[in-house]
Amino acid sequence: MWGPLCGPQHCPRTLRSAQRTLRLLVLNMSASRPFTVPDFVHAKAAGKKLTMLTAYDYLTASIFDAAGVDSLLVGDSLGMVVQGRETTLPVTLEQMIYHGEMVARAAKRALVIVDLPFMTYQVSSKQAVRNAGRILKETGAAAVKLEGGVHQARTIEAMAAVDLPVMAHVGLRPQSVRKVGRMSAIQRDEDQLLADAKAAESAGAFGIVLELIPQDIAQHITAELSIPTIGIGAGPHCDGQVLVSPDMLGLSGFHPKFLKQYASLRETMTDAARAYVQDVQQGEFPGQEHSHS
Ligand code: KIV
Repeated sequence: MWGPLCGPQHCPRTLRSAQRTLRLLVLNMSASRPFTVPDFVHAKAAGKKLTMLTAYDYLTASIFDAAGVDSLLVGDSLGMVVQGRETTLPVTLEQMIYHGEMVARAAKRALVIVDLPFMTYQVSSKQAVRNAGRILKETGAAAVKLEGGVHQARTIEAMAAVDLPVMAHVGLRPQSVRKVGRMSAIQRDEDQLLADAKAAESAGAFGIVLELIPQDIAQHITAELSIPTIGIGAGPHCDGQVLVSPDMLGLSGFHPKFLKQYASLRETMTDAARAYVQDVQQGEFPGQEHSHS
């Protein structure tokens, strides 16, 4: 199990300076060497906000890693943002391994977590352990993520029992789209969400993604757990945040309310491609400076 380290919400005043020292220690230590699963867990007690972005290829992963992002998630969102599909359901284990290996090879510091795609862990705990094991062996990633809480507790337990670090994902679960009907339904059943999060923690998950839930519920769950919560559309009180990188870079054109867009790469790339087309058509490129004599 990962806890219980005292979280900022539970610490009496007398522990504040110890907490500050721990925070500095975590920040200093984790800046100069790979960020590990224990670093990820301890960040919560140290009051360090965790950062996570999705990555699917070597180049992007190496940019995010060098920029200091703590964790790179090879999300099965790649089904939508890389493959152009409507849901994440068709993504295969082989595809996750293909992308996961590129990202893990690029990451010098960031903790790399790879999603278990739909139907690669739901059949049985044995299936889940075998497939999670393949991901760790074949990609070099440090951990896997699966969707679910209460209903996946046994599977999480089976993975934890063989030292496979696993993160859970509760709230909106995109792999359940056929059951819930749409990808954007805000999850408001507080008792269920808390039960899911607690079940995942008790089973041995080292962290939990909270997707698309009201901020006060996310705050409550975060205070109740000793492992970090990573929010997406779950407000500012989570222990960390994750965004789907083609969305935050302004590449995908997807603008949900919870998204802050940090760049406009779609425009930048469109302008660049248009300028290139024009240059070639008008004989402006290649010029003498781009040509061999
Ligand atoms: O697949 C993914 O990118 C995810 C994030 C939305 C957390 O699971």
